[in-house]
Amino acid sequence: MFGGVRFGGTLTIDEAYADGFDHIALCAGAGRPTVLDIPNGFARGVRAASDFLMALQLTGAAKRESIANLQIRLPVVVIGGGLTAIDTATESLAYYAVQVDKFLTRYEALGEEPPAWNAEERAIAQEFLAHARALRKAQPAERLALLKSWGGATIAYRRRLVDSPSYTLNHEEVEKALEEGIVFAEGLTPTRIEVDTYGHAQAVKFTAGDKEVELPARSVLIAAGTQPNTVLAREEGVSLALDGKYFLASDETGAPVRPERHTAKPSQPQVLLHRYADGRYMSFFGDLHPSYFGNVVKAMGSAKQGYPTVSRVLAARSPASSENDERFLGRLNRDLRAVVHEVRRLTPRIVEVVLRAPVAARRFHPGQFYRLQNFESLALRVPGTTLAMEGLALTGAWVDKERGLISVIALEMGGSADLLAYLAPGEPVVLMGPTGTPTEIPGNETVVLAGGGLGNAVLFSIGRALRAAGSKVIYFAGYKEMADRYRVDDIEASSDVVIWCCDEAPGFAPRRPRDRAFVGNIVQAMHAYASGGLGAQPIPFSAADRVIAIGSDRMMAAVALARHDVLAPYLKKDHIAIGSINSPMQCMMKEICAQCLQPHVDPATGKTSYVFSCFNQDQPLDQVDFGALAQRLAQNGAQEKLTALWIGRCLKQLPPPAERKAA
Ligand SMILES: Cc1cc2nc3c(=O)[nH]c(=O)nc-3n(C[C@H](O)[C@H](O)[C@H](O)COP(=O)(O)OP(=O)(O)OC[C@H]3O[C@@H](n4cnc5c(N)ncnc54)[C@H](O)[C@@H]3O)c2cc1C
Ligand code: FES
Repeated sequence: MFGGVRFGGTLTIDEAYADGFDHIALCAGAGRPTVLDIPNGFARGVRAASDFLMALQLTGAAKRESIANLQIRLPVVVIGGGLTAIDTATESLAYYAVQVDKFLTRYEALGEEPPAWNAEERAIAQEFLAHARALRKAQPAERLALLKSWGGATIAYRRRLVDSPSYTLNHEEVEKALEEGIVFAEGLTPTRIEVDTYGHAQAVKFTAGDKEVELPARSVLIAAGTQPNTVLAREEGVSLALDGKYFLASDETGAPVRPERHTAKPSQPQVLLHRYADGRYMSFFGDLHPSYFGNVVKAMGSAKQGYPTVSRVLAARSPASSENDERFLGRLNRDLRAVVHEVRRLTPRIVEVVLRAPVAARRFHPGQFYRLQNFESLALRVPGTTLAMEGLALTGAWVDKERGLISVIALEMGGSADLLAYLAPGEPVVLMGPTGTPTEIPGNETVVLAGGGLGNAVLFSIGRALRAAGSKVIYFAGYKEMADRYRVDDIEASSDVVIWCCDEAPGFAPRRPRDRAFVGNIVQAMHAYASGGLGAQPIPFSAADRVIAIGSDRMMAAVALARHDVLAPYLKKDHIAIGSINSPMQCMMKEICAQCLQPHVDPATGKTSYVFSCFNQDQPLDQVDFGALAQRLAQNGAQEKLTALWIGRCLKQLPPPAERKAA
């Protein structure tokens, strides 16, 4: 078993076959949770059920010793009527008690409040602390009544309970949920989410026949169904055909067939989906398959019924690889498993981690990113806390494809990223990816790059690729403090002209005659350069065909706006403007957990659409709803800031990390 290998990202069909695999069985399950397209459908407090359940179990928030953040407030309203809705409602109520108790335990042990809490976060913290104290005082038999008095968890379904898939599939589970205190509200179709003055969800409005009903809700969890995970059909380097919402199946001659839909025991199991030119096949099972979609028993049944077909197509040709098992597995172990190569400190708050992961390095294109985590079993521990990271989304800074090395650069902002400095050379890690979409690299354009702080870790590989493709690069590299700058050589090499910007005086001294420096923010620097305030322009700003901004959401929002305001007189009307959108992310597997969903508003029609940022991080600046992005980034705010203090406290109990060079 190799973890962190995303099929379609780390490995493609062609590469798997070229590597000597004889068959590919796709068991990628379901994905693409249904989005609730109603006003404020993405307000803070609203999450996909998949996002919630994954954060709870896989990322580990349910564990007392975990540092994973997952902030849930009562009342909870779950929208849907299937078994996922039942799980989500029961789990959210059970988790709430664990969450607030963990919050109180850490708050008391710290003996201080996070200074970064804003007024809303302080109020949420007070709510959690009061609830935790009340739960601690209560007898076990009184706890459910308390949870219900704070709003409890309600499932809102558009039809009657007896019509719901949860009831028809497994009425015992519904009965148990009701025993656990879950309320099932029938006949409710959601129409809008109401928000408070902070923009946080506070109620859901429904139509119930010809009436309007409002349920108070601080957490709204959407369990309105998922689709088979056919995202592979839309990936670069993969060519799979679809038949409706499923992959197109094929028979043993490679001709298309249509398997029976939704039957656990089809008269003929059709599990093949693609015939490669040389006669090798792919097959599909479980939730991906139109016959077997729906539950674990059917998923296992698909394997039982499908394996004779796979055995037959395997027997029909000789093995693709002549390597023996030892050599074959040795090669996979070397190429697919990620280990830490080196950890370097770049600035007092910025760390570079170099990883050895040959296949993941080979597949990288500028702009793409990885999910990095340490193994929970290898994580550092202090009493009561396991320092297992939440998955960190880290863009590749550079790769050395020959040596199989990948560099990622992270800002230690409090939280899981602070653990990177403690990784040890040789330590196995989970590195999933590359994921996201390669940044479009045009030739023969003039491109303005705007990098804010850590964004510069990403931009220099994009700048280098742009120049190699024949484009000219004007690079605005912005920093808050002078100590934040790193990799100056790389930034110079990736640009035709650099404008070094820093909020802190006296600012930087450019090393090359054509470069400039500016004290102030990046938008002011662009204006100063464009208007001639920094002297002659080695490449005129007005020649820009494209602007690529990477930095904080606020910095990108400012660049987006300035293009229509102070910078408008200096920019071509039809220039392209792209931002690398740093939505909150969890699985980064493309359309699975839905934590990364980002609303876009079409500037011409005002119509809202939703994109998965982990599928494509590069988004048109004029369409990104930056207000919604800021709201979603603050989803776990009160908890995240307390956890950051907590991690700091844990790290003080450990010896400081030494700068560790590769062995
Ligand atoms: C909340 C919830 C509760 C459920 N409760 C029950 C229950 O009580 N009983 C029951 O029988 N069924 C239940 N089900 C349904 C059951 O979980 C699924 O039917 C079953 O897991 C399907 O198995 P699978 O192997 O097809 O897919 P999954 O179990 O979903 O496994 C798919 C795997 O593929 C990975 N993957 C996805 N894309 C890629 C890629 N590109 N490359 C590499 N890996 C990839 C995913 O990360 C995942 O690990 C529940 C489902 C949900 C969501
Ligand atoms: S779908 Fe999980 S982060 Fe994008």
